[in-house]
Amino acid sequence: IVIVVVCAVVLGLILQRTRDFKSVFTSRCVEYGGYDCEKTWSTFEQAYMGKDPCQVPPESYQALIEAAPIKPACNRMMFWSKTKDVVHDFTTKKECYVTMEDTFVGSLLDGLTWCSKEGSKDTFTSGCPGWSDCVNNTVRSFWNQASASFAQAACGKVSVMLNGSIAAPFSPGSIFASVEVKNFNPAKMEKLEVVLVTQETISNCSSTSLKNLQKELPQGIAFGCTEVPESRIEDCASQPDLPCGSCW
Ligand code: APR
Repeated sequence: IVIVVVCAVVLGLILQRTRDFKSVFTSRCVEYGGYDCEKTWSTFEQAYMGKDPCQVPPESYQALIEAAPIKPACNRMMFWSKTKDVVHDFTTKKECYVTMEDTFVGSLLDGLTWCSKEGSKDTFTSGCPGWSDCVNNTVRSFWNQASASFAQAACGKVSVMLNGSIAAPFSPGSIFASVEVKNFNPAKMEKLEVVLVTQETISNCSSTSLKNLQKELPQGIAFGCTEVPESRIEDCASQPDLPCGSCW
């Protein structure tokens, strides 16, 4: 009896987890609007369901990404690295920039962890491999594929918020450096404008790390960099009358 009860409880918890994850996914989908959420869920699920969570290559998410192509927002696209909180605080208060997390697929999965297991029909939210445990993990592969497609769509003047309080604002292992910069298309992208967010100024626009970014930009894309104190970004975000263009 004890064994049966324990099994039932464990099974109950697993099913609960799947339902919780699906319900977060679905309610975010409904809130975003404009997409068939059951269909989106099933396309998403097919990317990783029943697979070893370390054996899900980025291409697995291609069907999901093709079902919801990035709508290019020329001159308003905002990339970031090591500045997640400040950039999203800004973009939620001022609607002038669009980040990956504001797109349909990005908004569905922002902040979530998910994986399945070989032969399983469940989605788990714990016990999944960490970001660096294996290259082709369920979560990392999604962000790699989605970010590549976001970067391919970048057009006009494009912005990126980098962190000036660390020695390597342009960090080689980051998605921004390893995926996005490599997918920028000079045929549609005129310029990359760095907003270097400073608090303690460890790096500035003339630092080696920023020079490396400039060197790695595909030929034909111009480069600019402005140092902006974090407090200025926060103040500007909370003043509804100030146009975005005047924040830095
Ligand atoms: N361990 C855990 N999580 C990580 C790790 C890591 N080593 N690296 C990245 N992540 C996940 C986390 O969720 C983290 O908040 O990616 C997020 C961003 O990581 P950063 O290193 O700050 O930035 P970066 O890797 O450059 O990714 C941001 O990708 O999401 C897109 O378009 C978006 O330009 C943005 C870029």
